[in-house]
Amino acid sequence: MAKNSYDIVALPGDGIGPEVLACALKNLQVAGSVAGVDFKIQEIQCGGHYYVEHETEWPEGSFEKCEAADAILLGAVGHEVDGKTAFTKPGKPYPEPQLAGFAQVIGNRKKLDLYANVRPVKLYPGVTHKIHGKLKQVWEAGKVDYVVVRENTEDAYTGEIEVIEDGRVTPIRITRRATERVTRFAFNLARHRNKQLKVTCVDKSNIIGAHRFFRDVFREVGEREFPDVTLDYAYVDAFCQWQIRNPEWYDVVVAPNLAGDIISDNGATTAGGLGLAVGGNIGDEHAMFEPIHGSAPKHAGKDKANPLAAILSMQMMLDWLGTRHKDERLTRAAGIVEAAVAAVIKDGKTLTYDLVGEERAAKCSEVGLAVEEKIRSIAAD
Ligand code: IPM
Ligand code: MN
Repeated sequence: MAKNSYDIVALPGDGIGPEVLACALKNLQVAGSVAGVDFKIQEIQCGGHYYVEHETEWPEGSFEKCEAADAILLGAVGHEVDGKTAFTKPGKPYPEPQLAGFAQVIGNRKKLDLYANVRPVKLYPGVTHKIHGKLKQVWEAGKVDYVVVRENTEDAYTGEIEVIEDGRVTPIRITRRATERVTRFAFNLARHRNKQLKVTCVDKSNIIGAHRFFRDVFREVGEREFPDVTLDYAYVDAFCQWQIRNPEWYDVVVAPNLAGDIISDNGATTAGGLGLAVGGNIGDEHAMFEPIHGSAPKHAGKDKANPLAAILSMQMMLDWLGTRHKDERLTRAAGIVEAAVAAVIKDGKTLTYDLVGEERAAKCSEVGLAVEEKIRSIAAD
């Protein structure tokens, strides 16, 4: 049901996370005022730096706050000291298999059962690609528009480590339940997009038995429940070159966790880089949205990072909330935010270094403000 006020938990995290999230939250307030909806934002300090200081991932009760929220927005996690990933204070080992600062990402994905990681690979007109250190348009807008649906709870990400005499074993775990629900999600998404009505299963089933099971379940679900959707298959290594050469072939792509992690970053290259790449971690009851770039410690605190990925994650959140609560106001606001981002990109005047080069670069906060202005002007039209 539609509500007049939605509770959002904001997790700024480490590095550039707080800067880009601040832009996204300001834009969220503008979108809220345009939609006539109130957003109550609760910010929780967290991430690797928080762990190093407090020896705990985040303040007590934080997970419960995430659980109670209507949606979660994450900045980035990953803390570095002197160019090295810092998991803990010197001399204090972090208990395996957890990694400091990852409670927000891996912990929330698992504990809130956010089983589908939805990562659009969409090229907006005017975006340039950074190749050989130079910016030029390589791929064509309209020819890069597919969505990676990454299984988000298992595969090599269960955190299990078995100690063996000569090393460590991390299993690749694929279950029927997790595969059925994520492939069903992908098929439904293809129907909802109503473009090519095609889902490509990307895996390493030629060699990994567990991935063979993933592919078999994908086929079963597709043939049984989605006769209107075309089933397509690719091995992940080959897919990595096809998604660069022929992105127009793809509509919805579904993959086990680790393969999905890799192909979504690779795909981001064709859509303007990680500064524009977005992900929604979606379950049946909860969802968390995040830019898929990391914490980029070397750019932190410089007001330099591209905030558009964070703003587009907020946009995905609006869209998800609109569908979930049957709230047309949010669905409309999501459309306006996307149009505003597209317009700022097309104008090309206020963009960060990754899209226009250092000389013409605008600041992170300036890009955020440019999107705010566009939201207001598009809404007023
Ligand atoms: C991502 C990230 C994470 C992942 C890391 C931070 C654990 O790369 O969201 O894609 O591998 O899932
Ligand atoms: Mn990743």
